[in-house]
Amino acid sequence: MARSVSVGIVLVLTVCMVAGQQKDSKICRKDNGFFEHEDYCDYYYECVDGVPYLQECPNGLAYSGPGRGLIDKCDYAHRVGCPDAATGKIMGQPPRGSGVCPYLYGIYPHDKSCTRYWMCWNGTGTVQMCPFSLLYNEVEHACDWPEKVPGCQQHPLCSTAPNGVKPIQGSCVRYWLCMGGYPRLQRCPAGLAFSQETQRCDWANNVPGCEPAPIPDEEEETLQAPAARRNSNRRTSTEEETTAN
Ligand SMILES: *[C@@H]1O[C@H](CO)[C@@H](O)[C@H](O)[C@H]1NC(C)=O
Repeated sequence: MARSVSVGIVLVLTVCMVAGQQKDSKICRKDNGFFEHEDYCDYYYECVDGVPYLQECPNGLAYSGPGRGLIDKCDYAHRVGCPDAATGKIMGQPPRGSGVCPYLYGIYPHDKSCTRYWMCWNGTGTVQMCPFSLLYNEVEHACDWPEKVPGCQQHPLCSTAPNGVKPIQGSCVRYWLCMGGYPRLQRCPAGLAFSQETQRCDWANNVPGCEPAPIPDEEEETLQAPAARRNSNRRTSTEEETTAN
C-alpha cells in the first residue's frame, strides 16, 4: 500500500517536471523543428525535445519556414501571404522603424514618385527605380504596368498636360513625359538639354543655362549609366602620371 502511494507521488512529480519544461505536443508536432505561431505571422516556435521556444522574425518580415525566405527563415509579409484572412493571422510586432521605413524591413511606396519605391533593410531605406515605363504598385509591392497602378493614372504631375511634357526645375537633362496621365521620367540624349522654351530636348548650346555640357546628375548617373561612361569624361590618374613624367 505504502509502495503504491510512493509510485503515485513519483508519477505526479514527473508530470509536474514536464509541465515546468512546457513540453507542448500541440505546438511541437514533432519534438524538434520549427513551427508556425498560432496567431502571428512574424513569430514562430523552435521546438527542442518537444519544448517550444518563441522566436521572432526581423521586424517587418514574416515566418516563411526553415531554409526559405530572405533572412532567418523569414520573408516579406506579402510574399508569405500575411495578413491572411483565411486563418486570421496578422503581424504581431509593432513597427520599429522610422522615416521612410515604418518597419525595419520591407518595401514601401515613395511619397512623391510613382516610378520609385523604398527598400528598407534593418531600418535603412534605399530608393529604387522601376525599370522601363513601369510604376510602383503598392498592392503588389512590385513594379507594374501603369494601367494596373490606379493611384498614378491621374498623377498631379500630369494634371495640366496628361499627354505632354513637364519640366523639372533645376535639371537640364531630365523631364517628365506624361502619357495618358502617367508620368515617366525621361532623360535627354548626350549633348542635348531640355529646353523650357520649346518643351523638348535641344542642343545644349541652344539652351540658356545648360551650355556647354550638362553636368551629370550624381543620382541619375549611378542609377542608370554604366561606369564606362563616367570614365570616358575623365583621364585616369595613371594617364595623368604618365603625362606628367
Ligand atoms: C541593424 O542596425 C543596428 C543599428 O542600427 C545594428 O546594431 C545591428 O547590428 C544591425 N543588424 C543587422 C542584422 O545588420
